[in-house]
Amino acid sequence: MPTTLWEYPSQHYDWTDADGRRHTMQGDKDYAGATPSWVIWQLLMRYSRENDRVIDPMCGSGTTIDVCKSIGRPVKGYDLVPRREDILQADARKLPLEDGSVDFVFLDPPYSTHIEYSDDARCIGKLDAAGDDGGKAYYAAMTKVISECHRVMKNRRYLGLYVSDSWKKKKGAPTGSGAGTFMPIGFELFAMMRKLFVPVDIICVVRQNQKLEKGNWRKTAVEENFYLRGFNYLFIMKKVDDVVQGAGTHGQAPGRDRK
Ligand SMILES: C[S@@+](CC[C@H](N)C(=O)[O-])C[C@H]1O[C@@H](n2cnc3c(N)ncnc32)[C@H](O)[C@@H]1O
Repeated sequence: MPTTLWEYPSQHYDWTDADGRRHTMQGDKDYAGATPSWVIWQLLMRYSRENDRVIDPMCGSGTTIDVCKSIGRPVKGYDLVPRREDILQADARKLPLEDGSVDFVFLDPPYSTHIEYSDDARCIGKLDAAGDDGGKAYYAAMTKVISECHRVMKNRRYLGLYVSDSWKKKKGAPTGSGAGTFMPIGFELFAMMRKLFVPVDIICVVRQNQKLEKGNWRKTAVEENFYLRGFNYLFIMKKVDDVVQGAGTHGQAPGRDRK
């Protein structure tokens, strides 16, 4: 992709393995909150090499695992609640990995409470970024996840974080008042990552959520004075432990030496 505006042609892509088997899906199309595999593929093709060790600490339906298999990247996918045998059980805040052992991290975390992923009380998707605590618990949990990713990564390697902002209507607010809370989750997570990583780029990925296409949702958004989320951020960060973060780099990564 030559620009920072990405519009994926389809949620999945087709490929044929060495035994001639055709694969038409990565992850699970029925899993609410699945990442478009095309986005992960684009990232890995640019920011990793064949045989690089990839992890996804919040692997969901296993999309990252399937993308890695299609392009020869050894991969480990973790989740609090594994949905497939090849997904390992772990809390993303405490990964069973050694320091500096991973070449690439892909992460698509819960965006506040927008989806009910499981009954597990440790699920970060149960923490409201617009809660009474001002979202403190959600952001504290995500700080731990991000610093854990940084710990397990090798120096001068990349991380991709895919996330959307969120908006929640205030309970009982009159129609059209627009009363609610906007949660700038993208910028908050970016600020957190900026303390540990050097930013490489920010991609805007157009969302192709079927919800957006439904006439009633569009009408409701206008009538109730809120916006449907039209894009996800894809933050690309680099671990560079040999420079002082934020000092003199002006947001520029010091060289894209892993292309
Ligand atoms: C947006 S989904 C990931 C989607 C995935 N990339 C896919 O394509 O299917 C977020 C995932 O984070 C998981 N999760 C939430 N809290 C977690 C935690 N503390 N540790 C590990 N996984 C967690 C949820 O179970 C959910 O599967």
